Amino acid sequence: MCGIIGYNGKDNAIPYLLDGIKNLEYRGYDSFGCAIDSNGELVIKKDVGRIDNIINKYKLQDLSANKAIMHTRWATTGGIEQKNAHPIADCYNRIAVAHNGIIENWKELKEGLSEHNIKSDTDTEVLAHLIENELKAGKDLKSAVADASRPIKGMSSFIVLDTKNDDLVAVKKGSPLVMGLSKNGNFVSSDVPSFIKYTNKVIYLSDGDVVSIGKDSYSIENLNGEKRPHVVTTANMSVKSVEKGDYKHFMLKEIMEQPSLIKKIKDSGFEEVEKAASLIQKQGTIYITGAGTSFHAARLGARVFREYGINAIPVQGQDIPSYKKVISDRDVFIIISQSGETADIINILPIIKNNKKIGIINNQESALSREVDALIPMGAGTEKSVAATKTFTLSAIYITMLAMIYAGKKEEAIRELKLLDIDMYNVFVPSVISAINNVAEKIKDLESVLLFGRDYDYIIALEGALKLKEITYIHAEAVDSSTFKHGPLALISDSTYSISFVSKALRQVMLSNVQEVKTRKGKIIGISDSNSDLFDLFIKVPEEGLFSFIPKAIVMQLLSYKVAALKGLDMDHPRNLAKVVTVL
Ligand code: G6P
Repeated sequence: MCGIIGYNGKDNAIPYLLDGIKNLEYRGYDSFGCAIDSNGELVIKKDVGRIDNIINKYKLQDLSANKAIMHTRWATTGGIEQKNAHPIADCYNRIAVAHNGIIENWKELKEGLSEHNIKSDTDTEVLAHLIENELKAGKDLKSAVADASRPIKGMSSFIVLDTKNDDLVAVKKGSPLVMGLSKNGNFVSSDVPSFIKYTNKVIYLSDGDVVSIGKDSYSIENLNGEKRPHVVTTANMSVKSVEKGDYKHFMLKEIMEQPSLIKKIKDSGFEEVEKAASLIQKQGTIYITGAGTSFHAARLGARVFREYGINAIPVQGQDIPSYKKVISDRDVFIIISQSGETADIINILPIIKNNKKIGIINNQESALSREVDALIPMGAGTEKSVAATKTFTLSAIYITMLAMIYAGKKEEAIRELKLLDIDMYNVFVPSVISAINNVAEKIKDLESVLLFGRDYDYIIALEGALKLKEITYIHAEAVDSSTFKHGPLALISDSTYSISFVSKALRQVMLSNVQEVKTRKGKIIGISDSNSDLFDLFIKVPEEGLFSFIPKAIVMQLLSYKVAALKGLDMDHPRNLAKVVTVL
């Protein structure tokens, strides 16, 4: 977690980096800081809170430097306090370090630094002082940084600014790091959107790279100082795709992009999906894994495989280690991830190193994308809002297509997908939006909401509950209606609101469950293709075919968004969360 960025060039680094770091805020937003080389003097400004507030408080826009680094934090080691914000300096205020990742053995390393003046509670500070020691031993910056990074364990990437050196030096050791090359200077950053406005010439760094970033030059070596090969690519990303445009929030923008993204999938030939399907071996088990929202797409996928008589097991990434003794080399893993960086998933790669791996991944340049044998790119473009929306829809569609293509049902899958017409489903039309707004008003002050569904709808209830929790802070619990008499029914009283997904196929049994809730005076919000006397409130979502779960998921995205908006919450940056979870 955390976002880091640095610039070294002929221009003033500050406007570039202030703009760039805001594009990395999705990675964490507990605190923010910058370090500049002001004519040989190290100046660090940092504080807790959101970037814009800190910029205003310290008038950071007035700073000027050709060489600077910035950091946006999601706290891991050390509380959310000013002293723990990055960048972090050495004893002499000569160097500053901005770090993304975790140094697992920091306590051990700290024991050897008792002579140093340690000012924070962070793991990162250890790194600053290890570099200081290497510099004191007479090494040049690059060797000092390389040697200091040798003993650190865990996934990390970091940038070092040294007031006695013209170059910035950065290291990639597990966490993402990319370079951007421009006419007037060079960037190094956690992610491409942070500098895409200024350059699309990108180098995706590899683990073990140590880079020296000069004003108009750069070099990439390994920890032993040997040259490392690299490729300069042109990033295929538009500036528009990383900006909010006319939307108030990224979340809304991303929700609204879904109809056109679905259309794009329909027009694709599914070659990558077919290639991936050919990797699945009949004798093995199919494991489908992911975390958070991606795991809900995995559950949907497993359900579709089962529909076609194929046994596929959905397992949370976190839980795969417990399957270690039962996994055989013939088993195939389908991994769903927006970022391709999630620690829960990266962590299982050694366990499944002998297995064929299919990735349904949005970030094609991620560590995970490089590890899979077949990649199905989601093609959602940048997703910035912490709560996943469009990537849920796209991954749910792709995993469904994969299951059906593997089952030999490609034509049927394409026919089903044709039925998924978000406009036809009337999801974005005034009558549905006003019904959603109405429900949002009713539930916005509740402490708790239950979401009922069966079969596919139960998975949508899980995803809907996650959306509500993430951005509205309402306790939302999905309940499989087929089990609700075994406990959850005890929660119902005249003050409970439940959202019930009522599909055509399961209408009778679902309505009888709804009736049981009504009998206990619970209020019901029905999400269905037709109304019922039993519903206190109703959101109409016409259903047609297998992909009917998608419009229901979109309704829950819109409802969660609206509730968060009514509560005045910043749904793009929900408290305590980060978009990319890179620590276990
Ligand atoms: C975090 C995000 C979720 C996301 C999950 C998995 O928890 O806040 O929105 O679903 O990570 O991320 P991934 O990038 O692997 O899909």
